[in-house]
Amino acid sequence: MAIALQVKKLTEQLEEYNYQYYVLDEPSISDAQYDAVFQQLKAIESEHPHLLHENSPTQKVGGQALSKFEQVAHEMPMLSLDNMFNDEALQAFIQRASDKSIKEVAFCIEPKLDGLAVSIIYEHGLLVQAATRGDGHTGENVTANVKTISNIPLRLRGDNIPQRLEVRGEVFMPQLGFDKLNARLEALGEKSFVNPRNAAAGSLRQLDSKIAASRPLAFYCYAVGVFDGDLENSQYARMQQLKGWGLPVSSEISRVQGLDACLAYYRNIVTQRESLGYAIDGVVYKVDDIDLQDKLGFVARAPRWASAYKFAAEEAITRVENVEFQVGRTGAITPVAKLRPVFVGGVTVSNATLHNQDEIARLGILIGDDVVVRRAGDVIPQVARVLLENRDLSQTQEIHFPSVCPVCSSALERIVGEATIRCTGGLYCAAQRKEAIKHFASRKALDIDGLGNKLVALLVDHDLIKDPAQLFDLTLAQISTLPRMGSVSAKKVLNSLQVSKKTTLSRFLYALGIREVGEATANNLAMHYKNLSALQDAGIEALKEVADVGDIVAKNIYYFFRQPSNLQVVNRLLEAGVHWPDIQAVESTTQTLVGQTFVITGSFANISRSDIKSELQALGAKVSGSVSKKTNTLIAGTAAGSKLEKAQALDINIMDEQQLFTLLNKQ
Ligand code: IVH
Repeated sequence: MAIALQVKKLTEQLEEYNYQYYVLDEPSISDAQYDAVFQQLKAIESEHPHLLHENSPTQKVGGQALSKFEQVAHEMPMLSLDNMFNDEALQAFIQRASDKSIKEVAFCIEPKLDGLAVSIIYEHGLLVQAATRGDGHTGENVTANVKTISNIPLRLRGDNIPQRLEVRGEVFMPQLGFDKLNARLEALGEKSFVNPRNAAAGSLRQLDSKIAASRPLAFYCYAVGVFDGDLENSQYARMQQLKGWGLPVSSEISRVQGLDACLAYYRNIVTQRESLGYAIDGVVYKVDDIDLQDKLGFVARAPRWASAYKFAAEEAITRVENVEFQVGRTGAITPVAKLRPVFVGGVTVSNATLHNQDEIARLGILIGDDVVVRRAGDVIPQVARVLLENRDLSQTQEIHFPSVCPVCSSALERIVGEATIRCTGGLYCAAQRKEAIKHFASRKALDIDGLGNKLVALLVDHDLIKDPAQLFDLTLAQISTLPRMGSVSAKKVLNSLQVSKKTTLSRFLYALGIREVGEATANNLAMHYKNLSALQDAGIEALKEVADVGDIVAKNIYYFFRQPSNLQVVNRLLEAGVHWPDIQAVESTTQTLVGQTFVITGSFANISRSDIKSELQALGAKVSGSVSKKTNTLIAGTAAGSKLEKAQALDINIMDEQQLFTLLNKQ
């Protein structure tokens, strides 16, 4: 008993020190003193393993490596932000967000951290799950790695903590840590990272949490996702609340009113940018009042109540040494300026796209010219302008667009009204073949693990495959004889190919690489037509009824399915066993909970809340966040709180975990 109490005391002591150090930035003890307490707790825990709690402050070192990350569905989608690039856009945003009933709307202003978005869920104050943003709807479960990040508390402190609280924020790598990490990697002869953002992303996606633990990552909260209970009704006040519970929040956040104050914040942070110690790429303006946020709502993937004012792109001067022509997946020929390497916007740039012939003419650019290159965030580097005053005609040379495809020598075509020149070779062209297969295997398409760019290039160059369908004819012997491919990796690839056959209609449609059919359009098409043959038979006018499909996309889809070589690939894929659940059949035979509303509360021993939610939704149920008269059933786990009381008061059907399993199995 005395020992248990001591563990509790030491734990609380360390948690308090962490809070002072990471959140308040006011340490009260020295590192050595901290270390002494830490070692004391560790010693007791190793002597009494039953007293070791998984959220103990000593557990920030990582554990067993994973073989892959599990997928996590976000209960509330993780959105992105609209961008603004000048003061006028900020003014327009403030006007749009202003409500006539309020004299002057207040904004919470925050630095736009340049890392990656993460969602962290605390239940009963304990960190239970962390996930990446992914596509906004589903991300990857990176709990083991996030738990190793020093300034993220494993347990929240203070009072009135919501039973369940999802905080969202940015994982990033401070500049000092980044420099040290790169020095360390270089000393070991390993590849260093080009910028802190990539380093943060690479570290967070380590399957081995011990490696993640060795990386100097940090986190700042900027939003609340789902939560039980009451929170402040203002963004700024919520951030203070999170801080009070021990969560790290940027000290740069501020609440202001009026355009002038909004602009002043921006101008001020621009001057401080270099001394912050971490990379930011702009400033985020958020309507402070949460009710007003709700009233403003969302458009597509971004809120109307928030917007990011991005910093001007960085520029640098360098020389064009050559121009090469690349052939893309759809045959588009893109001129690429080969530059004398120059450091700009956080990376060394040696290529910049020149887009097309019109852009070359607009820039008036020659090989040998000095140019201004510009790079912002993750955007492809651009040539902003030519420094004509530096031009030396004896050293420059005109850029000649090729007359045939530089890869396969097929004829080129330029469609009237389009700026792009394309190779007409289709899958005959090795470049298009490689790109089409890479796209087919990519994460958002069939997600074929282990089939990376290098292997695709080898397979095509060795003439083993000509189209995506032939991937499924590959044999172990064929793959393992390729350079640098042992039989172990070859077996892995074959296994991934097998696994990838089970997919969804929307991934399949996306994988086909129909021009201008991205992930979202593929999803809309799948939802609308529910099966492939209905979509294949659809006419242009019918296709235009699908959300987001305009005239051009409709024609692209229509003609894709009228091209015999495409139909052949589609049929061979189906023959190879590529399949997906039939959306129509799934809906009509198993949608037994249509019209019913469920609310989920508490924690569950054998299933996560997000799994319960998706299982219920798959049966057609609506899952809502709060109990009301419209609720049909409350699924209550252990430690259910106010929702359970409310459901009881309203005489709503209540199910426990056991009953839920009976319901799910029975259905
Ligand atoms: S709020 C609904 N606040 O920017 C609004 N995002 O472009 C959701 N980011 O995915 C985002 N700092 O990764 C917000 N203070 C901040 C941010 C921030 C960085 C990132 C975040 C998000 C992306 C959107």
